[in-house]
Amino acid sequence: MALHAQITGWGKAVPQRTITNFDLEKLMDTSDEWIRTRTGIAERRIAGPDESTLTLAVRAAREAIEAADLAPAQIDLIIVCTFSPEFGGMPSTASLVQDVIGATRAGAFDLNAACSGFIYGLAMAQATISAAMHQNVLVIGAETMSRWLDWTDRTTCVLFGDGAGAVLVQATERPAGILSSVLGSDGSGGRLLCIPGGGSRQPASIDSVQAAQHFIRMKGKEVYKFAVTTVPRAIRQAIGKAGLTFDDVDLVIPHQANIRIIQSVAESLRLPMARVFTNVDRYGNTSAASIPLALCEAVEQGRVREGDKVVLAGFGGGLSWGAAVIEWAIPVETVAAAVAGAKRRERATVTA
Ligand code: UT7
Repeated sequence: MALHAQITGWGKAVPQRTITNFDLEKLMDTSDEWIRTRTGIAERRIAGPDESTLTLAVRAAREAIEAADLAPAQIDLIIVCTFSPEFGGMPSTASLVQDVIGATRAGAFDLNAACSGFIYGLAMAQATISAAMHQNVLVIGAETMSRWLDWTDRTTCVLFGDGAGAVLVQATERPAGILSSVLGSDGSGGRLLCIPGGGSRQPASIDSVQAAQHFIRMKGKEVYKFAVTTVPRAIRQAIGKAGLTFDDVDLVIPHQANIRIIQSVAESLRLPMARVFTNVDRYGNTSAASIPLALCEAVEQGRVREGDKVVLAGFGGGLSWGAAVIEWAIPVETVAAAVAGAKRRERATVTA
């Protein structure tokens, strides 16, 4: 019997602190009007001093494990998709998550495919499950973009935010779950979205720090063009590979980078925006966290229901891209109970 990979748990975490466009207006030469009309972003969450990629990843992971009703010791593999890890080179953030949540039997590694990371992580989870190597795989997208932003560069810092989302992927014999995935890369565009310093090409030095080489640099227009041509193609390929047509698709959850990119993708696929999920207005671009964060909210809002076919699509640094089709297989009552539990825990954390 073929093994399928099904999402059985989901969770998210965002920092407490919200920074609105109006807050940014006070810090730099920008405006709510510019940010809103060019990107659709109204506000984003920014990590406080006690928050980091690890703390956000752990919160999202705990929620996902709780929703799946699984003991941490049953997890076989943890993949943390991030380009803003807890430490520069090692240890991996995934190993730290493994320790904090008590996943005593799990292997762990970080996966860096920038904003496409979560799609890559899902594809790896599906591959290892269908090869019967692992049964329970935790895939987390977690970023603290704010620590890699040049807060004097208005062309980048207004776009991004911090957050995490996680899913538990489990082996099942039922033919549901992750139905297909496609992954792609074009490294010739690597410099279009890049952190020039801090790697082996340009190790950290006084000069590199003074030249602000450790921050995200982006040629926005070029990345925009890349996204609006590549994402529709990847989505079409993933739907075809799953043996489906657009009529079968209930919801598309794209990477939340810019509402104009999302609208353009929807337009070229002739998809009404009612079948596309967006929350970029409240979180900005959270890179590898954006798709799982959006998936969690879509599930919590009842936009994804048992039997629904959902397309996830990401793009970003590398350049890289990916799309996946999933069939959601969790009954509404189970979702409702998990959402109520998560809300109780959130209230308890705020009061504590
Ligand atoms: O996760 C994947 C990675 N990233 C992306 O998907 C981003 C893709 N790119 C984009 O979303 C868009 O290109 C941006 C939102 C980054 C920029 O929008 P745009 O319509 O391409 O604007 P632009 O870069 O052409 O800039 C237009 C003007 C410029 O002024 P001039 O040269 O026309 O006088 C900029 O200096 O807007 C100016 N500008 C700003 N003005 C106010 C740039 N940033 C700001 C700002 N506030 N924050």
